[in-house]
Amino acid sequence: MSNADKINSRRIFGIISHPDAGKTTLTEKLLLHGGAIREAGTVKARRNAKFATSDWMEIEKQRGISVTSSVMQFEYKGKVISIMDTPGHNDFGEDTYRILTSVDSAVMVIDGAKGIEAQTRKLFAVCSMRGIPVFTFINKLDRETKDAFELVEELENVLGLPSVPVTWPIGSGMNFQGVYDLLKNEVILYKAGKPSETIELSDEGVFGPELEDIIAGYNLSTLRDEIELIQGAGNEFDMDAISHGKLSPVFFGSALADFGVTAFLEHFLDMSPAPGPRKTTEGYVNPTDEEFSGFIFKIQANMNPAHRDRLAFFRICSGTFHRGMTVTLSRTGKQMKIAQATELMANARENVETAIAGDIIGIYDTGNYQIGDTLTTSKQPLFFEPLPTFPPELFCLVTPKNTMKAKHFQKGVDQLAQEGAIQVYRNEYNEVVIGAVGQLQFEVFEYRLKNEYNSDIRMDYLDFSVARWVATDDLEAVKRTLDSRSMLVYDHFQRPIILFANQFTLNYYMERHQDIRLLEALDVNSTLG
Ligand code: G4P
Repeated sequence: MSNADKINSRRIFGIISHPDAGKTTLTEKLLLHGGAIREAGTVKARRNAKFATSDWMEIEKQRGISVTSSVMQFEYKGKVISIMDTPGHNDFGEDTYRILTSVDSAVMVIDGAKGIEAQTRKLFAVCSMRGIPVFTFINKLDRETKDAFELVEELENVLGLPSVPVTWPIGSGMNFQGVYDLLKNEVILYKAGKPSETIELSDEGVFGPELEDIIAGYNLSTLRDEIELIQGAGNEFDMDAISHGKLSPVFFGSALADFGVTAFLEHFLDMSPAPGPRKTTEGYVNPTDEEFSGFIFKIQANMNPAHRDRLAFFRICSGTFHRGMTVTLSRTGKQMKIAQATELMANARENVETAIAGDIIGIYDTGNYQIGDTLTTSKQPLFFEPLPTFPPELFCLVTPKNTMKAKHFQKGVDQLAQEGAIQVYRNEYNEVVIGAVGQLQFEVFEYRLKNEYNSDIRMDYLDFSVARWVATDDLEAVKRTLDSRSMLVYDHFQRPIILFANQFTLNYYMERHQDIRLLEALDVNSTLG
């Protein structure tokens, strides 16, 4: 197989959902189909095993949520698929956002009874910003759900995302009988606790006689009415719109019952994009280019606190990776030898000898890398589309309890900031102010400083909830505009940020100081000006 064929067989996607919609269950079923795991429950078990062996992950166990996220790879009918597992909890929004910059498409899992929930909205916004295709899996059809049209309308009304049904439910809850696959013109029958059965239909589709003895009268007449409506007034199936994230193919099913999952997976593999060109400061790089390039989108601390090394998740965008190769870190111009990298399979960590564009590899890191870093064999330093930084909403002043241990404290703060676990700022007195999207990030931060860096800290919560970068040539003038409801801090790149008590204070400030330019989200590497 040529490299181009291999690249074309790759799919990298992220699953987004509100907690409890069924993301883990669906992931698990996909891995089962790919033979990457043998038993249902393995993904959950793996997480639980992690909790048991690693100390700082104790927090996850206590809170019953997933703090870290990883990549799971499997093969299915000649395709190599990487699922980016994203933590669904509110507290970890920031980390999740970053992961979404590395995927080529996203699968949005929605609980059919609940419809679109808060976290889904936030995560969808990131996908929409990137213009990647979003596939919708409406889950839990084995239970009573909202009306299918109502759910599809929610996509359009709440997310502004037009959709096109690929499978359509036949009844729901107690009366759920299966789905109709509009593209393949077949019905997949749901049989609780038993394997499903597929019935191919004639050209008349659901209006033909085949279903009359199989689908209950009311369900069949409803199905016919609904399909008539979809075919007459629904959105046209438009592959171009799908690939630009402007139209979402919709699937219905039950992850728990493993129903509708195969239909989803097969259509998804047909419609989702293989790794394509990626924009950089030096123009586009193509996956088939000779020159090796890629970027780090996540850094994860070692699960074993006895080992300080970290794992940098690296997406290869072009060229071929060979173990032991030397690359340039564009940010510093430094030459780096990648002696060891690991595959990120669901059930094993194996050393990688070679890998190509569209692969995600884990590079062992002893503190050299930052999120967003580019590694390349190109002579020219290059930078990929910067990852967005989202403004935190919670702030804390942090000081070491034992000033003799200030060095440990400093090292821990720097490393956790590099990992992207937390935003670190300095105020005018050079004190450390940390910012997070959610409370749990603070807890993890405190726990890890204590356990990994032997540093006990004091955390004083600050009464601010909104942060804005400020673009100015005259910082002294900006300082004079501040009062007790605002505070000036500096980020990692020395860029000034004003913290405001709340949205109201911010609005008031903007009204009074219309000449001062405030920015909400910033690209990590960009400079103000
Ligand atoms: P998440 O990763 O999105 O947070 O959700 P997860 O898969 O953990 O699923 C949340 C709950 O919903 C789980 O129940 C799971 O079994 C259930 N679930 C997932 N898919 C379906 C489905 O298609 N139909 C039905 N009826 N339930 C589904 P739990 O009781 O919280 O956990 P567990 O005890 O089953 O592990």
